[in-house]
Amino acid sequence: MARVLEVQGVSKRFLGLKALQGVTLHLEEGEILAVIGPNGAGKSTLLNVISGLLRPDAGRVLFLGRDVTPLPPEARTHLGLGRAFQIPTPLPELTVRENLLVGALFGRPGRSRKEAEAMVEAVLELTGLAAKAEAPAGELTLLEDKRLELARALATGPKVLLLDEVMAGLRPKEAQEAVDLVRRIRDAGVSVLFIEHLMPVVRALADRVVVLDYGEVIAEGPYEQVAREERVREAYLGRRA
Ligand SMILES: Nc1ncnc2c1ncn2[C@@H]1O[C@H](COP(=O)(O)OP(=O)(O)OP(=O)(O)O)[C@@H](O)[C@H]1O
Ligand SMILES: [Mg+2]
Repeated sequence: MARVLEVQGVSKRFLGLKALQGVTLHLEEGEILAVIGPNGAGKSTLLNVISGLLRPDAGRVLFLGRDVTPLPPEARTHLGLGRAFQIPTPLPELTVRENLLVGALFGRPGRSRKEAEAMVEAVLELTGLAAKAEAPAGELTLLEDKRLELARALATGPKVLLLDEVMAGLRPKEAQEAVDLVRRIRDAGVSVLFIEHLMPVVRALADRVVVLDYGEVIAEGPYEQVAREERVREAYLGRRA
């Protein structure tokens, strides 16, 4: 299988704090990979390095075999790297459809208006937002807000989708719907790297799990395997105690 994304020896410091230390991981084509770890483990920082919002102090990021480490976020989006944020950031005055159209038009240069509109319709259907297409984004419920954040990333037409806690705050039934949605997205040909604190979601969704603690990868493998590892249990227990 092809590796669509590779993170090689990435380190990132914030003043004295080592947020990431020599992180190496990869994402296979068609895979759903979970990155988990206690609060402050470096998960969002890792996504920021992958999407280009942060430059690593060391290491590199390969996307579809190409070194994208020097590229800004927009250039990575144009290549097909999509991202949904932990805190949704839609344009509140615009409708749901308009928000998606912005993503579709700016997600790749040279995409025609007609092409973009067709993508928006497909994303509205896929994400279950069609009924809310004309609603201003600022008037959505939390669940719809989370969906829109995911939909905006999808509307850019990504080959790889990065999701940062898109299910936080959802009720179990809503989280299950979101799990089904991410599966449909993968089945549509998008590889997914997601960060999540909800373990039932990780178990249900992830083909493979990478565990971060204090900026380092401490475990990697199928959920059932990493959940049993002593180092993983200690990482979670240690912070909560
Ligand atoms: N811009 C920044 N400046 C300084 N320190 C930062 C910055 N961003 C993150 N940090 C610190 O880096 C560490 C890793 O943060 P990060 O947000 O990546 O963790 P996380 O695993 O996403 O946590 P959470 O589960 O709470 O979202 C934390 O100690 C955090 O306080
Ligand atoms: Mg985070």
